Amino acid sequence: MKYQRYHFDTVTSTNDFAKELVQSTDCVVVTADFQTKGRGRNQNTWLGEFGQNVYISIGIKHNQIKKVEEVAYFQWLGALSVLHALQNLCCSVKFRLKYPNDVYAKLGNGKYKKISGILVEHQFLGEYCISTVLGIGINVKQTLFPSEIKNNATSLKLLGCELEVEQVIDELIESVEAKLSLLPFEIYEQWIKELNILEKEITLINTGQRCIVKNFDEIGQIIAKDIKSNQIIIIGNGDTIRYDLS
Ligand code: BTN
Repeated sequence: MKYQRYHFDTVTSTNDFAKELVQSTDCVVVTADFQTKGRGRNQNTWLGEFGQNVYISIGIKHNQIKKVEEVAYFQWLGALSVLHALQNLCCSVKFRLKYPNDVYAKLGNGKYKKISGILVEHQFLGEYCISTVLGIGINVKQTLFPSEIKNNATSLKLLGCELEVEQVIDELIESVEAKLSLLPFEIYEQWIKELNILEKEITLINTGQRCIVKNFDEIGQIIAKDIKSNQIIIIGNGDTIRYDLS
């Protein structure tokens, strides 16, 4: 892909800049050393120290305007790109996708902790999507995390992979480029394979409901069966679930 690259010291959120910049170019890559208003899914804040981690947003203008169902696959593309980039960079560590599109790493004690999060935002003109921003955060060199996330956050350094932020960015961009050459259904199949969640038991954090994953719909929502009531329930991007990643 041909892209314009921008790097900033400090921004509010790289997603905000990519969203603006992609209006005048087909593809932009925006990175920063620090975000003052980094955001995650479900209105969460994305925290990270200056210069220690990857904060990147890739803005893609759609040359053919697309309906919302046609752009859902960018979430899976983002997650797979991160997963494969990290697998290439740190062969000794086991990385797993966690629904919907987080990447977790296995620690020495067998526990999994989050190493990367992906926030995909679409820009619409009426009902059509004109551009998409893939915002990705990867913890690279940070070793201390604020109390609210420390139990669930790790970094490449904590896993024994001493890498520079720039190396991780380069590998990630290559990985995104490779995925962009695939068809949406190929991405979908890879994502489902890597998630490895079919027929597994999951718990919905909000309600405590326990379900078995039966299938996915075309926009990546989980179709699950409630263990108690046998009712079919749909679980989407906004839901948080817990399950065994191993
Ligand atoms: C999540 O796990 O909730 C998603 C986190 C996404 C964080 C990245 S960091 C770069 C980009 N800019 C942001 O404000 N968010 C994304």
